[in-house]
Amino acid sequence: MALLSILEFPDSRLRTIAKAVTKVDNRIRRLIDDMFETMYEAPGIGLAATQVNEHVRVIVIDISEEKDTPLVFINPEIEVLDKELHEYEEGCLSVPGYSEEVTRPIHVRVKALNREGEAFVMEPEDLLTVCIQHEIDHLNGKLFVDYLSSIKRQRIRKKLEKEHKAKA
Ligand code: NI
Repeated sequence: MALLSILEFPDSRLRTIAKAVTKVDNRIRRLIDDMFETMYEAPGIGLAATQVNEHVRVIVIDISEEKDTPLVFINPEIEVLDKELHEYEEGCLSVPGYSEEVTRPIHVRVKALNREGEAFVMEPEDLLTVCIQHEIDHLNGKLFVDYLSSIKRQRIRKKLEKEHKAKA
């Protein structure tokens, strides 16, 4: 396995729309393993392939305390089941050091393929609902900062750009 580097806002590659996985093969499974290693190391609770500059529709998540419940979503599709909304403070490995309240639907159904390429359906609850929606956004080139006011987003952008320059 290998640690992958995580793209950070405002990197334009984070705006790429990921392509569907046509075959769940060993190449995809290796990417999944590397994404889990990268996510656990960061540490984070979710990672989309977009964030490691691989533009395929693959997401890994583990919201468990013990970090022993890895979840894989390949080609995820989401259906919003009702109008109930939920506000949650979100962070992102691609926007390090910032978290803000984001409002999203709470009752959703997700269809996806697992690591073996088998289809499954789930109705996630609580934090998992938020996390899946956040990660699917990444596959569509969207970040949680897009839900904030442009003033807030610009402030975060400027601070991160300054940090990136200092590191370069
Ligand atoms: Ni994120």
